[in-house]
Amino acid sequence: MKLSLYAVAISLVGAMASAGCTLQSDGGGGSGYGREATGQQLPLFGGKDSTAYAAKLWRAMQQANLVGSNRITSTPYTGQHPHGAILDTVDRPFTLDGHTGHLIVKRNYGGEGVSKQAVANDPDKWLAAITVMYRREAGYDPDNQNWFWVKYLPDGRLAQNPKGMALAGRVAKGTNQGCIACHQSAPGGDYVFNHDRLR
Ligand code: HEC
Repeated sequence: MKLSLYAVAISLVGAMASAGCTLQSDGGGGSGYGREATGQQLPLFGGKDSTAYAAKLWRAMQQANLVGSNRITSTPYTGQHPHGAILDTVDRPFTLDGHTGHLIVKRNYGGEGVSKQAVANDPDKWLAAITVMYRREAGYDPDNQNWFWVKYLPDGRLAQNPKGMALAGRVAKGTNQGCIACHQSAPGGDYVFNHDRLR
């Protein structure tokens, strides 16, 4: 079973490379499988563990009023590719399952006629997606400072890449596109663009 999964992963990578596959800008590709410390082939993102964790994080954020209609917002600002035209980001320590880590919740707004004022007046009307980085417990992904990456739709469902893989977990780790690859270039070496060092 392990061997055949590995073979599938290898052939998927080969197929993608030979097809010159292009993927949606903030999605990320890759087979989604990698070798963990245990030697087992586990999905790096989009698998059962990642999607269950993303669902739990969503519920906890709902309870903390960080997502949903009553959410706490920041002043909307103009975003950069590949995120929305207008963004609003909340950044704070957050506790889940007894672990406290840094949480960054970014709401991405877009659509014909979007502007900072329009978003300030009616945030839900323009909300397109919510991208989140949460720094998990030590050992989750030591190669990438233990960040958990997830892209939600406004109702809390998970966004998917063109291959139908949910964007939750170590998204597209080991490839040259997707959340991790792009955020690796953030100044300060903390994977965060908006500030150089975590407070
Ligand atoms: C092609 C590059 C690129 C990709 C891919 C990308 N991002 Fe970003 N991201 C940025 C840039 C640039 C910023 C800062 C500017 C902005 O806010 O638009 C940012 C900002 C963020 C922030 C706010 C914290 C910060 O770094 O400033 C979060 C949270 C975030 N991205 C999550 C994600 C998630 C989750 C994914 C994958 C689903 C992802 N990003 C994919 C470039 C990228």
